Amino acid sequence: MCKVSDSIDFLVIGSGVAGMWFALQACRHGRVVVLTKREPEESNTRYAQGGIAAVWSPSDTVEEHVRDTLVAGAGLCRRDAVEVTVREGPDRVRELIALGAQFTRRHDFPDEYDLHREGGHSRRRILHADDLTGEEVVRAMRVACDREERIEIRDHHMAVDIVTDTWLARRETEPEPLQDRARGAYVLDVRTGEVEAISARAVVLATGGAGKVYRFTTNPPIASGDGHAMAWRAGAQMANMEFVQFHPTCLHHPQVNSFLISEALRGEGGKLRLPDGHRFMLDYDDRAELAPRDIVARAIDAELKRLGLQCVYLDMTHLERAQAERMFPNIDARLRDLGIDMAKDFIPVVPAAHYMCGGVLTDLNGESSIRNLFAVGEVACTGLHGANRLASNSLLEACVFAHRAAKTLVEREDEPPRRTVLPSWDAGQAVDSDELVVVTQLWEEVRQFMWNYVGIVRTTRRLERARRRLKLVRDEVWNYYWDFRLTGDLVELRNLVDVAEMIVTSALRRRESRGLHYTLDYPSPDSRFLSDTVIRREH
Ligand code: FAD
Ligand code: SIN
Repeated sequence: MCKVSDSIDFLVIGSGVAGMWFALQACRHGRVVVLTKREPEESNTRYAQGGIAAVWSPSDTVEEHVRDTLVAGAGLCRRDAVEVTVREGPDRVRELIALGAQFTRRHDFPDEYDLHREGGHSRRRILHADDLTGEEVVRAMRVACDREERIEIRDHHMAVDIVTDTWLARRETEPEPLQDRARGAYVLDVRTGEVEAISARAVVLATGGAGKVYRFTTNPPIASGDGHAMAWRAGAQMANMEFVQFHPTCLHHPQVNSFLISEALRGEGGKLRLPDGHRFMLDYDDRAELAPRDIVARAIDAELKRLGLQCVYLDMTHLERAQAERMFPNIDARLRDLGIDMAKDFIPVVPAAHYMCGGVLTDLNGESSIRNLFAVGEVACTGLHGANRLASNSLLEACVFAHRAAKTLVEREDEPPRRTVLPSWDAGQAVDSDELVVVTQLWEEVRQFMWNYVGIVRTTRRLERARRRLKLVRDEVWNYYWDFRLTGDLVELRNLVDVAEMIVTSALRRRESRGLHYTLDYPSPDSRFLSDTVIRREH
């Protein structure tokens, strides 16, 4: 069954910080529908702990934030994207505050905001709401969205594929257009199984990251790279997919999955130790625990492998009990529930997949290589992060680029639709599946071999092996996809396979080590690879 909905102005896919920011700007100029595949609050944004980086303190400067971002990015940041983000960032943070976001103030000077410091930052510049920054940002933005009549949030609605002029032309065996344009999307109502065709003036991907491609991740289950995969299938250019950021300190505990131990703890003096107490980061980098994330994650990985350990430890025992509770209330409470008192005990930690630096290649206004298809937030590759993202730069990037995307679109004249009604979704002979175990099995398989073969340290042989496995999985998913009626899990599995393939393809092309991409076969940077890895799906 396929329902065809009225045309709307802006179709936003995702209700994290990027999607909601865009919606709040664009709704003054047209009707906005925000799709979100679970509850509206469920997003990577919600789990952000450390905060949002911005030049805020009088002793900080734009030049220093730019420099720190460029250093972390290991030669691959686009300087103009960095400058735009850092310069416009403080205004976006002021607007967040005006929307109602309450950031933590200093307890000694309550008129001032408390600023955290994280790895790679030469200054304290991270505004935060205790250690629950994401929850506060989501709360404030949600209240603001609910006030707007022209924003409609449709929960449990999952975008499946983007409709473009090229896709329409192929379907009707007409000549393909010279410049492709986005026209809308097919959307699955996860609760009813119905697929709807929604046409819109512009489609904005704000679908977040893809941490679920890996067995261990800090990301919630929504992070299956749907936007990456939809853009790829639509033929958009994708960039730098090999640069997957592993956060060094995810809690290692048998009862808990995906709980982050914020880098802000290291910013407040946390030390990484081996079981015998040795502070090993000093053996790897002069900046020790505050070196950029790629260096810290790789050092932990090396120690785990060298000594056959399950985890290393974060030592916060220099804090008094009351300090731990005041500075990190959420993390402290969660750890205490598990019987870990950070003021007395070491915290067991391991690295886990955390953030996709690569994504849909966009210009400085968030537009992809397909006209009227925008990508904002983690799904985008704006050039800000280069080969490695500086901590707490992503919430900032999402606000800055969602703002620029909205400004660009509202100033753009509406373009005549290629056709007013999109064709219905063709479900063919699909029937309900009675073998959902196949989806679960393939899903686990992909995540496991991505972790083992395409993780923190790579080799060409392991990447090739992953590529061969992916081909087998792809064939199975392909058959399954067209034989059975769509479910959310099946759509996500197909997306996961596409994202995994993009990561492996890009990693094989980069025959050097740079930033987050480290391969034993080419262990040093090579200036011949000092450019983005740009890929596009050949139809
Ligand atoms: P998200 O917030 O992930 O939102 C994506 C939305 O898209 C969700 O609503 C999801 O349901 C929806 N969606 C996805 N696919 C579909 C589909 N097919 N159809 C419909 N809807 C779909 N960054 C910082 O700057 N500072 C931090 O302190 C920080 N801490 C972090 C801590 C954790 C544990 C994690 C996981 C990340 C952290 N990050 C942090 C990174 C940051 O939170 C994210 O990069 C950022 O929030 C991404 O925002 P987004 O709007 O792009 O995507
Ligand atoms: C953290 O709090 O360590 C996460 C910050 C980030 O990912 O930017």
